Amino acid sequence: MKLVQDPAEIAALAAGWRGQGLKIALVPTMGWFHAGHLALMRRARQSADRVVVSLFVNPIQFGPGEDLAAYPRDLQRDSELAAGVGVDVLYAPSATDMYPAGFQTTIHVAELGRGLCGASRPGHFDGVCTVVMKLLQQTQPHQAIFGEKDFQQLAVTRRMVRDLDLPVQIVSHPTVREASGLAMSSRNSYLTEGEKGQALCLYRAILFARAKVKGAAQPLSAALLCSEIERNISQVPGCVVDYVEIVDADSLERCETVNENSRLIMAIKVHERVRLIDNARLFYL
Ligand code: PAF
Repeated sequence: MKLVQDPAEIAALAAGWRGQGLKIALVPTMGWFHAGHLALMRRARQSADRVVVSLFVNPIQFGPGEDLAAYPRDLQRDSELAAGVGVDVLYAPSATDMYPAGFQTTIHVAELGRGLCGASRPGHFDGVCTVVMKLLQQTQPHQAIFGEKDFQQLAVTRRMVRDLDLPVQIVSHPTVREASGLAMSSRNSYLTEGEKGQALCLYRAILFARAKVKGAAQPLSAALLCSEIERNISQVPGCVVDYVEIVDADSLERCETVNENSRLIMAIKVHERVRLIDNARLFYL
């Protein structure tokens, strides 16, 4: 596996591969790889001739007081993990190469980026879209692979790609969970084992909601189900709800009643330090 840090070098590599008719897949990441990232890389490996994984802790998607400085970083560890699943290039640009002095362009997806995490983290999706756009430009992939755990990010990215006619296919991959059910996240590394147990309230909420939907004789009120879930989560020590919503999986607008296209989507703070998100389809087939 090759480590590339220079945007001009990755662009030249990508142009060469394209010239040879090779299919490129990009897995955009912020590093500190876990089994979820590795699953995205394996997915990319299945469908592409060349797999590029970007590793960049993107400063412009973090708000003031968020965990930019603390975000876990270990290039050596990540390089070994990526090489182990057959990645061709680990692309790890510097912040000054990505955002040189004078940088002033932002991509803003107006509606899909407004609610949910966008409401709690103003500017977050502008930062995500801007960096994803740059990464797509630099690596020229035919496919880019994103995890469903960041469900709003996936929806916003798909919208950007459609709206800006970008010639790339966005491929989603199901959330990878620990054996306990906790969704894999680099931020889980901030939690003690006990706190991880408390954070399981997110997975329990998914199971609870699915059981309710399965047992319902008529369409369930989304608002009532959300308030039951909020109540359950607020009983778990150290866990505070940011939001619990049931939304249409495409528009991300609130559902009145739960239907086949509904998605339960949640964010909580664990011990005021760690923000975790999770989501799931409610009609589980
Ligand atoms: O999901 C992430 O890790 C990041 O938001 C992404 C897509 C790599 C953009 O920085």
